[in-house]
Amino acid sequence: MRRIETVAALRRYIAAAPRPIGLVPTMGALHAGHISLVDAARDDCRTVVVSIFVNPTQFAADEDLAQYPRPIDRDLAMLRDSVADAAFTPDAAEMYPPGFATTIAVGGPALPLEGAMRPGHFAGVATVVAKLLLAAAPDRAYFGQKDGQQVAVVRRLVRDLHIPVDIVVGPTVREPDGLAMSSRNVYLSPDQRAAAPAVHRGLLAARRRYVAGERDRAALEAACGQALAGVREITRIDYVALVDADTMAPWEGAGRPMLAVAVRMGATRLIDNLLLDGD
Ligand code: PAF
Repeated sequence: MRRIETVAALRRYIAAAPRPIGLVPTMGALHAGHISLVDAARDDCRTVVVSIFVNPTQFAADEDLAQYPRPIDRDLAMLRDSVADAAFTPDAAEMYPPGFATTIAVGGPALPLEGAMRPGHFAGVATVVAKLLLAAAPDRAYFGQKDGQQVAVVRRLVRDLHIPVDIVVGPTVREPDGLAMSSRNVYLSPDQRAAAPAVHRGLLAARRRYVAGERDRAALEAACGQALAGVREITRIDYVALVDADTMAPWEGAGRPMLAVAVRMGATRLIDNLLLDGD
């Protein structure tokens, strides 16, 4: 596996690489969810590039940029095992050289939920994803449904900017007890970790009501909210929102119903979602 650290070297590599090329953008601290995307890219593409870049512009000043896990040697070993062809591991100065002054602000699906809770987050995501797509020029780019709103934002970005890439979405990969895999799960204390599957239980409770025929948005949100309400380790519910999976607007019966949840356990935020009509 090649390790590539500059955009210029990535461009040279891509120019000579057999197509189709698949790009899996990550911030590292890889887990089985990321590897499932690498596997999907491996199945579909002749060249698989995985980017590892903890993108500072998508973190607010009070967020966990400094302590975000960066186990680069372990990540590279996992990518070698999963037979990626190249790891693109630029540093912040490569991606944001002095004088960098361009930001891509997506509206629409980027505005509610995480967009409202974390102002500037999706502008950081959209800007770095656009830069990665321009640098790697992949035929396909792979994202996880775990970050369902990010998927909607990236789809809108590539549509609005006519970026010629297919966005492929992999299912959320869960621990055996239902907790969605996330690089931030390492922040959970043992008690918080034990309580965290309540989020998935809440999502499943709402899905059961949906499958049984319930279509009232408030009732479906309440079914999930009830499962979270009594959990002592959940110190705040940021939102439980049934939204259209493409627009992130409140679900009104058309479009795919995505139930999105964000809760806090102390300083750690957990986000998860479920497409109620099936993943
Ligand atoms: O999902 C992530 O890990 C990040 O938001 C992404 C897409 C790699 C952009 O930094």
